[in-house]
Amino acid sequence: METAPTDRLTNDELLAIAVSIALEAGELASRRLREGVEVAASKSSKEDIVTYADRETEALIRRRLSEERPHDGFLGEESGAETGTSGLTWVVDPIDGTVNFLYGIPQWAISIAVVDGDPDPATWRALAGVVVNPSNGEVFTATAGGGAFLDGVAIAVAAPAELSQCLVGTGFSYRAAVRSEQLAVVTGLIARVRDIRRMGSAALDLCAVACGRLNAYFERELNPWDFAAGALIATEAGARVSGLGGARAGKKFVLAGEASIAESLEKVLRQAGAGGRRLEGTVRYGIAFTDSL
Ligand code: IPD
Ligand code: CA
Ligand code: CA
Repeated sequence: METAPTDRLTNDELLAIAVSIALEAGELASRRLREGVEVAASKSSKEDIVTYADRETEALIRRRLSEERPHDGFLGEESGAETGTSGLTWVVDPIDGTVNFLYGIPQWAISIAVVDGDPDPATWRALAGVVVNPSNGEVFTATAGGGAFLDGVAIAVAAPAELSQCLVGTGFSYRAAVRSEQLAVVTGLIARVRDIRRMGSAALDLCAVACGRLNAYFERELNPWDFAAGALIATEAGARVSGLGGARAGKKFVLAGEASIAESLEKVLRQAGAGGRRLEGTVRYGIAFTDSL
């Protein structure tokens, strides 16, 4: 495969591109928020909405990346995938936390990662990632092997703790049937932890684990753009980021936290039926009838 000269950038140089484009995208989305957000369409369910700002922000990111990195591939939530020739792909969520964005809740983010290999979380190697929260100006970054940072200052996961002392983040699917199963899991978990948070942006949830604002986070059915950057940031901050039962993080499950906490949480999640009926067998109100995952 032919490699273009512009493809030989270091991870830090790739990160610098991601950060500058994410900041630009954040300014655009913030401007649109001030002007008034309008829903453009619904997607997987009527709760799963896309605004004109999501589309416009992704278009800006895609255009700027194609100017800077014409040989790289692209995978974005709103405008789909395009294969490149360099072997690298940019994985983009233009606004993660769109429902918060719509309601003016300052917990939404621009998430951009660049990965080596096919844009498939089962096989890719994330090289660099940025998550920007334009509402408070926070910029989370990481490069593979280079550590994780918040506004340029190194961050690390919270220290090991008993699960009963852990604050755990999660999120819910836009699909009602999946949500009911997720509620059963939360029912099985809530008495075993300090408390649970549903903050509304998977990318920021993973960054919250990375800087110790959450002890752990888990969610089913995330898409690659939801966690590509956040998972690298959490990993580089010292978190174990995985699926269930030794699987890699992916659509089925993402679980992140300091390793011993992630291990304890996974046990309880499995008992509570995380992964869904299709994987777990019978689950009634959080009481597990199998631990066969
Ligand atoms: C959603 C957010 C939310 C998570 C959902 C995601 P979107 O992304 O990350 O926290 O629970 O699973 O789909 O739709 O706001 O980009
Ligand atoms: Ca998202
Ligand atoms: Ca989104």
